[in-house]
Amino acid sequence: MKVRVDPERCQGHTLCAMRAPEVFELSDIDGHSSPVAEEVPEEQQDRVIDAVRSCPERAISVV
Ligand code: F3S
Repeated sequence: MKVRVDPERCQGHTLCAMRAPEVFELSDIDGHSSPVAEEVPEEQQDRVIDAVRSCPERAISVV
């Protein structure tokens, strides 16, 4: 699984980082999220799906 955060959509709601803190990191500058790495470790995939569903801006996508 690969994960992306659309920087145009992300508004810094932080729910993704609460759901999957080992996958998403928040910028100290604007609070926006980005994946630590594009490839999601298998043991983190359920958390990432939860993060996708929780983002109110629909900023996270997985393939
Ligand atoms: Fe951004 Fe959505 Fe996370 S708005 S900080 S990707 S919950």
